[in-house]
Amino acid sequence: LIRRSRSASDIKRVHVPIPGRAYSIWIGPGALEQLGDLLERSLPSPDLLVISDARVFRHHGARLRRSLGSRFRTAYVQVPPGERTKSVESARRLYERCAAHGIGRDGAIVAFGGGVVGDLAGYVAATWLRGVNLVMVPTTLLAQVDSSVGGKVGVNLDGLKNLVGAFHQPRLVLSDTSLLSTLPRRELRSALAEVVKYGMIADLSLFRLLERELDAILAGDPALLSRIVRTSCRIKARIVTEDEREAGLRQILNYGHTLGHAIEAEAAGRLSHGEAVALGMRGAASISHSLGILAPEDRARQDRLLDRIGLPAAAEGLPIEGVLRKLKADKKVRNRQVRFVLTSKVGSARFAQPVDNVRVRRALAALLT
Ligand SMILES: NC(=O)c1ccc[n+]([C@@H]2O[C@H](COP(=O)([O-])OP(=O)(O)OC[C@H]3O[C@@H](n4cnc5c(N)ncnc54)[C@H](O)[C@@H]3O)[C@@H](O)[C@H]2O)c1
Ligand SMILES: [Zn+2]
Repeated sequence: LIRRSRSASDIKRVHVPIPGRAYSIWIGPGALEQLGDLLERSLPSPDLLVISDARVFRHHGARLRRSLGSRFRTAYVQVPPGERTKSVESARRLYERCAAHGIGRDGAIVAFGGGVVGDLAGYVAATWLRGVNLVMVPTTLLAQVDSSVGGKVGVNLDGLKNLVGAFHQPRLVLSDTSLLSTLPRRELRSALAEVVKYGMIADLSLFRLLERELDAILAGDPALLSRIVRTSCRIKARIVTEDEREAGLRQILNYGHTLGHAIEAEAAGRLSHGEAVALGMRGAASISHSLGILAPEDRARQDRLLDRIGLPAAAEGLPIEGVLRKLKADKKVRNRQVRFVLTSKVGSARFAQPVDNVRVRRALAALLT
């Protein structure tokens, strides 16, 4: 028997009180060792299909297997890493695995990986037999702070992102921050853009924590990462509980994402999501400032933190007309004016509002070199 030095008390719980489908997120270094016990307590049947990507499973599969032990009837599937795996075709192959393994209404799908695995496995769980239990075990910082919370699941179709999907809340989420030690640096930095976002829209003290402890966070300090994941989950959980289907409040989670998505699409793979969102937040802050809503110091403070994280201040070689075309194709455009979530100070966002095209173009021009 392996005794670990970490105790179960390093593991913290965030409750997500979505009416009728409340669940808990367990967070901390060493949480993975508790997975088997937690599942035994919270699932109605021992039938599990664990879906992972080959890279995650190579690094951490043995720990997951050990935690589950032999008390479940488990099948393991590995999908190729990468966004292309998030497809209807992959879902189809996974349905076949569900059938072969006999995943019934009481069975569960365990998503062990980043946002790609979470969205894909979640989509399969939402649709197989009209919905089976879903357990999220996110392994990237992005998945731990963002994609594993909120219940959005889905796959891409013909290159169109998240075109097919559902809302399907998990039974349980378990975020072991020690898994992040093998994450590539660029993934860690990119995901911190989303954490800066939470700070900007909702939490000055989270923003301050990033400012104060950034070096230790970038060095992978597990206790600090755990705190950041916890705070981020609390913020997202609060927002999605109030507005599960994105009727109002949930929009503020799109801060930086209006320009971000357009830039990301135009960059066609050269920028990560977080890098594009960082540019989008710089743009949104500049628009907020130009409208007289955001003080120049607060805008500079956001941009300085993004600089320190190593997130880009400008993108090279992207034609402005191309980005504007992508922007207009966005589903949030109404009456030909693009809508932006704006900030009024660090820690406070406003609902999306239309912004005139001249201002948008000016903000965008400053981001493209
Ligand atoms: N559902 C939502 O609400 C939501 C929110 C945000 C993003 N997303 C989706 O999430 C996806 C992006 O997620 P992501 O950034 O986690 O990407 P990802 O799942 O592709 O993971 C990134 C890379 O890191 C590797 N990896 C994962 N965990 C690792 C670990 N612990 N150690 C080493 N390598 C590891 C993966 O194999 C992959 O190569 C996108 O498809 C996006 O649409 C969904
Ligand atoms: Zn995002």
